[in-house]
Amino acid sequence: MTDFLVLGMESSCDETGVALVRAGQGVPQLLADALHSQVAMHADYGGVVPELASRDHIRRVIPLANQVLAQAGQDLSAIDLVAYTRGPGLAGALLVGAGVACALAAALGKPVLGMHHLEGHLLSPFLSADPPAFPFVALLVSGGHTQLMRVDAVGQYRLLGETIDDAAGEAFDKSAKLLGLGYPGGPALARLAESGDASAFKLPRPLLHSGNLDFSFAGLKTAVLTQVQKLGPSTGEQARADLAASTQAAIVEVLVKKALAALQATGLKRLVVAGGVGANRHLRASLDAAARARGWRVHYPEMRLCTDNGAMIALAAAMRLQAGLAVPQRDYAFDVRPRWPLDQLERSH
Ligand code: KG4
Ligand code: ZN
Repeated sequence: MTDFLVLGMESSCDETGVALVRAGQGVPQLLADALHSQVAMHADYGGVVPELASRDHIRRVIPLANQVLAQAGQDLSAIDLVAYTRGPGLAGALLVGAGVACALAAALGKPVLGMHHLEGHLLSPFLSADPPAFPFVALLVSGGHTQLMRVDAVGQYRLLGETIDDAAGEAFDKSAKLLGLGYPGGPALARLAESGDASAFKLPRPLLHSGNLDFSFAGLKTAVLTQVQKLGPSTGEQARADLAASTQAAIVEVLVKKALAALQATGLKRLVVAGGVGANRHLRASLDAAARARGWRVHYPEMRLCTDNGAMIALAAAMRLQAGLAVPQRDYAFDVRPRWPLDQLERSH
């Protein structure tokens, strides 16, 4: 396959990401990427406001695309394919990316490809200095998803287990809110936890011994609420840090135990961790230690590519094309899929 350039656009939630990837032989190469995070804009509301997110994506996406092309020393005519996030995510935010990608591709006379956001996360470690090899177990831990998948090749994803209620990222975010921390809660809670004692509070480890690979985090949030109420409004900084550390420890212990159980059950020796919670240092250290003790390997995306970005969308599109799995479109008709299970990708793509 001769070299081709993919422009990727991500706009499923509160980050606008654009990236340019060169693909052809082997692992695609990231030429340039740019990101605008809407975190500051949504912070006043304590969470993402969908309508504001859509409007901001409209403002940012073209300037970011220009920035990426300038960084890579390329112009629009060099693009061979435009890829965008088709789902899952916020409908309005997805429509912005889809609309802009299709309009741009139509203007350039180039094909377009709608991508699955979680497939982007899942493949993102291939852009790291230590890329994985197939097959592997993937622990997908984002704001909306907590899933263990068996990954045999690009496009071959089998669900092994998932959360029956809140996602791990949600547990971080909701607990952080209860602790009076800002949005997004995960990084803020992790920061506060650094000065806390993780054994100070006994918090539940839901489904830890369930014997399957499913998760549940809703009960943990309730337990954190109970502790916050017990401590009262004048809680000292140390008690808050202790509760943050205990919460983080509970979430991480469950994630590590289930990820190891998935490796055991599949007989695989490689784990890939992807999605925003994969940026958590305590999770990384715990997984690394547990895997090292068993001679297993853990692969992560680069820290900055753990959360949403355009690079993972361009990469996933390039890898799908290289694998002969994708049929780029030239009719420029688009729809988005706000809800779209990853293991249904093959059937519905
Ligand atoms: O993958 P992502 O950027 O967006 C979705 O696709 O959902 O993940 C966002 C989630 C949020 O819940 C955020 O709080 C969490 O990832 N997160 C973290 C950390 N960084 C981001 N959670 C714990 N520790 C972190 N360092
Ligand atoms: Zn994401």
